Amino acid sequence: MITIIAATNRPNSNTLKVAKYYQKQLKEKGADANLFSLEHLPIDVLNTDMYGKRSEAFQEIQNMIYQTEKFLFIMPEYNGSYPGVLKVLIDASNFPDSFYDKKAALVGISSGKYGNIRGVDHFTGVCHYINLHVLPLRLHIPNIKTELDTEGNLSQPDTIKFTNEQIEKFIKF
Ligand SMILES: Cc1cc2nc3c(=O)[nH]c(=O)nc-3n(C[C@H](O)[C@H](O)[C@H](O)COP(=O)(O)O)c2cc1C
Repeated sequence: MITIIAATNRPNSNTLKVAKYYQKQLKEKGADANLFSLEHLPIDVLNTDMYGKRSEAFQEIQNMIYQTEKFLFIMPEYNGSYPGVLKVLIDASNFPDSFYDKKAALVGISSGKYGNIRGVDHFTGVCHYINLHVLPLRLHIPNIKTELDTEGNLSQPDTIKFTNEQIEKFIKF
């Protein structure tokens, strides 16, 4: 199973729009993908699911992670890195069997001009630590507000070209 992680809990995020765009494009290329937004982490996750504790609500997320062989992380740039809530997901998930020897593709987005280059690098380091293999083609989408049209589609020809290339490589990965 493929799971797309929209890696923020901010309501109405551009991250979720990009995640839905990727889900649609994957489907057009014949690959069904599940989508999980970090808005749907248990509200009290820091108290109920860290350091050996486990809530029923997180257990469902844990099961989804177990069933996933390939993850696509869409991560916004927050203060020069990826959001802390994404690290919470990783830290709350069982180690090492949640991600070990699985595969991931990474996409950074930002309203600024760097497309979360640093956050994607930071998260790549975490992926290596947990033995999650990262697709070499990592994408950075800056100026996200000028990229998305009213339907939530990417609009710049170069971005569409590179996202298509990444999706095709991810399917074969
Ligand atoms: C807490 C926070 C920190 C942010 N820090 C940055 C930043 O360091 N660089 C940047 O280009 N944009 C930054 N942004 C703007 C986001 O890149 C912008 O909101 C974009 O739409 C992606 O985030 P979203 O998925 O929450 O919409 C920040 C936004 C938030 C909420």
